[in-house]
This record gives sequence, structure tokens and C-alpha cells, in this order.
Amino acid sequence: MTKTKLACALIALTAAFAASVFAADAPKGDAKAGKALVYTCGGCHGVTGYMNAYPNYHVPRIGGQNYDYLVAALTAYKTGERAHPTMRAQAESLSDEDIRNIATFLSSISAQ
Ligand code: HEC
Repeated sequence: MTKTKLACALIALTAAFAASVFAADAPKGDAKAGKALVYTCGGCHGVTGYMNAYPNYHVPRIGGQNYDYLVAALTAYKTGERAHPTMRAQAESLSDEDIRNIATFLSSISAQ
């Protein structure tokens, strides 16, 4: 991914975050807010049925993953426990609520 593309993804994430601030508190997360947040992730992960845009390297499938697993994985990237630079850059800008919303949405869709 180029620096420009990454910057675009971060800008989109920020916009999506602003929208999610108004989402109501649900027991897990808000799938609708999560859907808006994972829009940029599809470029690499090919979530919600889209094919990867440029699969130059292996990227794990995240659609249909288990809720708790997704929260744990994203939190680990955020805290640096998982050191992958690309995903750290993604997760660092996510709040705990964003992560719950994303995990709620991704675990609610079926794996493709
Ligand atoms: C620039 C490409 C790219 C983008 C954009 C991206 N990811 Fe990733 N993601 C990766 C790669 C590569 C890995 C594998 C990293 C590793 O080996 O730890 C990964 C791993 C993950 C994992 C761990 C999966 C597992 O099975 O352990 C999750 C969860 C995840 N990404 C969620 C997301 C979410 C949510 C977003 C959007 C906010 C996102 N990713 C955006 C490339 C990307």
C-alpha cells in the first residue's frame, strides 16, 4: 500500500469514527457503525464479499470471524502486543468502541 493510499484510508476512518460517536450503546457493538468503519478494510481484507483489490500478500479473512477473537486481535494491534506495522497503523486510530462495533459487524456477516 502506498503512503497516499494509507493516508486516504486514515482520513476515511476518521470520518467513519465521527459518525460512530453518535451510535447508541448496545450490549456488544453497533453493527451499522461497524459497517461504516470496515469500509476501508476491504481494500486489503476483501470483507463482505468483495475480492481483494491487490492481493500481493496473504491477508487473513476477517468477515464471519468470531466476535471475541476480533476484539482481541484488534486490541492487540492497538496496544502493540501484535507488532504487524500495517495493522498497527489501522488499529491505533480505533477506539475501544470502534473495535466493538467492527467486531459486531464482521461477526454478523457470513464468511465468503
Ligand atoms: C493495508 C492493508 C490492510 C488494511 C487496510 C487492513 N488490514 Fe487488517 N490485516 C492486514 C494484514 C497484512 C494482516 C495480517 C497481519 C499479521 O500477520 O499479524 C491483517 C490482520 C488483521 C486481523 C487479524 C486476523 C487474524 O486472523 O488474526 C484483523 C482482525 C484485521 N486485520 C482487521 C482489520 C480491520 C478491522 C481493518 C480496517 C479498520 C483492517 N484490518 C485493515 C492488512 C490490512
